[in-house]
Amino acid sequence: MNQEVSPINIVVLASGYGSNLQAIIDAINTNRLSARLTAVISDQKNAFALERAQRENVPAIYVNAGKKPDRIEFDRILLEALYGLKFELIILAGFMRILSAEFVERYHGCIMNIHPSLLPRHKGMNTHERVLRNGDEFHGATVHFVTPELDAGPIILQKSFRVAFDDTAERLKERVHECEHQIYPQAIQLFAESAISI
Ligand code: GAR
Repeated sequence: MNQEVSPINIVVLASGYGSNLQAIIDAINTNRLSARLTAVISDQKNAFALERAQRENVPAIYVNAGKKPDRIEFDRILLEALYGLKFELIILAGFMRILSAEFVERYHGCIMNIHPSLLPRHKGMNTHERVLRNGDEFHGATVHFVTPELDAGPIILQKSFRVAFDDTAERLKERVHECEHQIYPQAIQLFAESAISI
């Protein structure tokens, strides 16, 4: 890590298990990533990601948006949660909601996402199953800046591997996770070094 780089403040949004969040925490704790984790926010009360935050004494915030909030209403509540937090970058790490265009424009160039495919292939859900169905030779993960169009923002880093003949969707998920845990901290570090921007 470039020791000259002053740490950036990041907020992580996660809906589930949070293995990418953990990879980011580990990279910070081992000085591979010059960042401070300000808070973890989840739309799921029982997300294990929230527990990972608590273990690090980082504020773990559950955004209770009710049963079926529309995108605008959810983002209004999310903005409330973000209000007062210090951050230069919002990290989507398995955050399973689509943010409104208004929200994305507000934080233009300051939201990153990780996606379980080699974008622009396989935007959206069920990427591992689609890779198998298509007989793709390669699969992998992508870190990109978030723009209003889903999974279409500028690509920052990708890591790929050759699909094995006996790979299952579950095995592909594991292999993609291994790629993700490497490239997400690296991409955030590039941002901290001001080496990338939209
Ligand atoms: C990751 O594989 C990430 O790429 C994916 O969810 C998983 C979360 O895992 N994100 C999306 O599919 C977003 N469209 P994690 O909770 O263990 O980090």
